Amino acid sequence: MAWLTCPTVPATDDATVEPARAQAFKAPIGTHDVLPPESARWETLVAAFATHFGRAGYGLVQQPMFEEIGVFRRMGEGTDVVRKEMYDFLDKGDRHLALRPEGTASVVRAFVEHRPTLPWKVWYAAPSFRYEKPQAGRYRQHHQLGVEALGTADPDLDVEVIRLLGDFYASLGLRRVDLAVNSMGTPEDRRAYVDTLRSFLVGRIRDLAPEDQEKVEAFPMRVLDSKRAATRAVVADAPSIVEHLSAGAAAHFDRVQAGLRALGVAFRIEPRLVRGLDYYTHTTFEFQSEALDAAQNTIGGGGRYDGLVEQLGGPPTPGIGFGSGIERVLLTCDAEGVFGAPQRRVDVFVVDLVGGDAARDLTALLQRSGVSVDRAWDGRSLKAQMKAADRSGAAWALIVGEDEQVAGVVTVRDLRGGTGQHPVARDEVLAHLRARI
Ligand code: HAM
Repeated sequence: MAWLTCPTVPATDDATVEPARAQAFKAPIGTHDVLPPESARWETLVAAFATHFGRAGYGLVQQPMFEEIGVFRRMGEGTDVVRKEMYDFLDKGDRHLALRPEGTASVVRAFVEHRPTLPWKVWYAAPSFRYEKPQAGRYRQHHQLGVEALGTADPDLDVEVIRLLGDFYASLGLRRVDLAVNSMGTPEDRRAYVDTLRSFLVGRIRDLAPEDQEKVEAFPMRVLDSKRAATRAVVADAPSIVEHLSAGAAAHFDRVQAGLRALGVAFRIEPRLVRGLDYYTHTTFEFQSEALDAAQNTIGGGGRYDGLVEQLGGPPTPGIGFGSGIERVLLTCDAEGVFGAPQRRVDVFVVDLVGGDAARDLTALLQRSGVSVDRAWDGRSLKAQMKAADRSGAAWALIVGEDEQVAGVVTVRDLRGGTGQHPVARDEVLAHLRARI
């Protein structure tokens, strides 16, 4: 056996033997760290989303990062997410679990488990995991801001959800965002349309890209999502679902369009917009950025899923929601030159030249009093500490040297020029700063 032949490393406490340098790891492919100052943009974005949807009656839902795999299979056996992209695994108790690839199925699972009062309106900000081919705007771990609203089939809720998301993008300063909407009709409309579409595609099968030909029989809808040129040419002539809506579904879609027009929300109807997941009924929509590459330009998408609660074991309950990728939203902000990282700075920086007690005590006093304050470490030189004070963006430096210590004062220096510097009695520092910050 191979492991028996491994050379054993003798244990040694010989200090002259150089320890091997430990391996330096990198974040897994398709994932990334978000560090300050960029992370301040994430904080601000999530806070703005929470406020925007909180005002409209949505509450935060916080959920497990993994679920039993069956929860996610309801997204559709024919979808890429379920067929190829799931991060699934057996845990130590042999349970088949998967990291969440999206938020909707988990929210619906929680709804069925807890049966909250209707309508139930929630928002989330959470990572999603998909084993995709990583590229700009497409990652193996991405983060979604999303909402789900369950318990009413009222088309005006579709209008509200779409309008709120459009308003959110506008509040970030985004201008080059285009809204596409479509209707998938009722589950029966959808089934009838799938048959019509399959017959059409079978007739043109030789013209489709080879990878798409195998989808025609079992998953004809997925052919409509294809980005391959040969398939797109065929799909351009395919029958459109909006021409196959039942009277009820057409009335629902008409009401949605009328609502969007009444509220001045610009949109176009996109009959090929079926989205990559199988649970959609009635309204589907996508916000696309004109500032991003076409392959990854959907910054937010969603729709109705009136059968999903039943598929996950609950009572018939309609629902609608969307997910919007934080990374893509921020890429769009960069491309449009809006919503930059906010400057993070403290108000006060403590410089201690007397061994550290003054910095320890003053910093604690000010932090406990709610003042934003930072300090230097390791007893560094005045020059090094003043440099650190500059980098911190502080408006005021509190300097304690030997003279100050003997006199029981602190030198308060105005780092933005203006008032220069002057001594302040140690027990008046807090009041002095409060009057100036
Ligand atoms: P989705 O279209 O699969 O829908 O994803 C929502 C958004 O997440 C996309 O519009 C995109 O901005 C972002 N996104 C998706 N995959 C990636 C990726 N690999 N890398 C970066 N960003 C990505 C859903 O997930 C549905 N759960 C949305 C929904 C909620 N429908 C109803 N309710």
